[in-house]
Amino acid sequence: MFSESQFAAERTGGGKKLKVRAPKWTFEDLTPGQDVSVFAKTLFHALSLVFPDGERFFIRSVNAYKDQITDARLIADIKAFIGQEVQHGRVHEFYNEKIVGGKFEIQNYLKLHRWVNYSLIEPITNFLFSPKFSLSITAAAEHYTATWAHNALTDDRVRNIKSDSLRNLIYWHAIEEIEHKHVAFNVLREVDDNYFLRIGGLLFLAVSMPAWVGLGFVYLLAQEKEVDVLKVLKDLVADASSGNGLTRQFVNAFFSYFRPGFHPDDINDQELIREIASEVEQSIKASAA
Ligand SMILES: [Fe+2]
Ligand SMILES: [Fe+2]
Repeated sequence: MFSESQFAAERTGGGKKLKVRAPKWTFEDLTPGQDVSVFAKTLFHALSLVFPDGERFFIRSVNAYKDQITDARLIADIKAFIGQEVQHGRVHEFYNEKIVGGKFEIQNYLKLHRWVNYSLIEPITNFLFSPKFSLSITAAAEHYTATWAHNALTDDRVRNIKSDSLRNLIYWHAIEEIEHKHVAFNVLREVDDNYFLRIGGLLFLAVSMPAWVGLGFVYLLAQEKEVDVLKVLKDLVADASSGNGLTRQFVNAFFSYFRPGFHPDDINDQELIREIASEVEQSIKASAA
């Protein structure tokens, strides 16, 4: 009952073999005070803080069902998805420790985030609803990270970042989020294609994600010296009211996910990836030299 198979067209996602890239950026070219506004910088840092533990959760939730998958293409995509998320976690953890942690206290926030979400809520929801609920949260979170990615690849604030390593960190993560956006979704559809299970994950995430990113944002902003709060609020309102702003895109992403039969491939952003991938790969190659 409430199976989505009756609505959904057959889609496998992407079409291309997923690639795991392993950058070695150390962010030496990032100097304080350059680049973007306090609002944009703090928002990116707040997102970056939740990425590594979030990505480990995504891996756990997909891993729990990988043995039930028989489609060879999806099995290969799961492997690459895990490889890509491992690399994202590693690089963001390095960035968080070195760049964000070099300026702000982050450990108390990270400990709280980890404990509440992954020591408390994850085992409780897995026990009450089955680990399918974690998989459903992951599928929704991957839809959100793909939305963030689409925004990042088209945002002039990212294009204007002077630091080659920071700009390419954002582009690299964004490209891979788009490349693997179908993986957790397709695993969930194979395991249980109940519409309400999928929407349950979305509703959970719609409360949890803004709450944790918002808390991280406030925690970091409170440590900024001589911050112009009015300017930050103005930038926040401008982002929320702009059609291309992240806030509006997240709201749109929330409603588009509600449609029965929705699939991440409904949004075609392959052209965006093609435009930026070679630039990112050059930067990755240079980082390893
Ligand atoms: Fe990621
Ligand atoms: Fe992802």
